[in-house]
Amino acid sequence: MPRLSVVIVPRNQIRRRVGELAAEITEAFGNRGLTIVGVLDGALVFLADLIRRLPMRLELLTVGVRSYRGRDGTAGEIEFRHRLRTDLAGQHVLIVDDILDTGATLSAALEETMSHEPASCRTCVLLRKKRGRGGSSLAGAVDFVGFDIPDVFVVGYGLDFDGRYRNLPDIVALQQVGGQPR
Ligand code: IMP
Ligand code: MG
Repeated sequence: MPRLSVVIVPRNQIRRRVGELAAEITEAFGNRGLTIVGVLDGALVFLADLIRRLPMRLELLTVGVRSYRGRDGTAGEIEFRHRLRTDLAGQHVLIVDDILDTGATLSAALEETMSHEPASCRTCVLLRKKRGRGGSSLAGAVDFVGFDIPDVFVVGYGLDFDGRYRNLPDIVALQQVGGQPR
């Protein structure tokens, strides 16, 4: 059975950093309208907090992406549960996801977005996992990052393990007897 262990990012730090990210995004996009593409389900809580800190004219779209991973944490297959249902021609897009690990999920969301030919596309993740071997080539290319965290499995603030723990207000490491859950 997995067990909650240490708090990696407490709620007050999340709150402060989401405000800072919103300020960074506002400075980057100015008064141009912005189209947000949120990656569900994990980004749900972050999205809800982030968009309420953004003052510009804003449209919210979502894609549903599920990533399966191998036991060793390598990127597995990506499945779209729903794709973008609209044209993004001429729009400035910001893709928002909860966490960047191998980068497979964000790559898939980027590819899906770019296929709709937006005017521009940037990316934002709340968490970026520090990986040793097999680090994501996308890790250096994300435009807005909330926190760099160690290579541990985390839950809470929208992130789940097996569908659980999304409702925890803090981001907490999950420990599993016999290895990290993936
Ligand atoms: P990637 O595709 O390997 O970059 O992993 C990103 C996706 O996998 C995220 O959108 C999350 O849904 C999920 N994920 C990766 N690491 C974690 C974690 O530590 N906790 C919960 N979900 C994770
Ligand atoms: Mg996700």
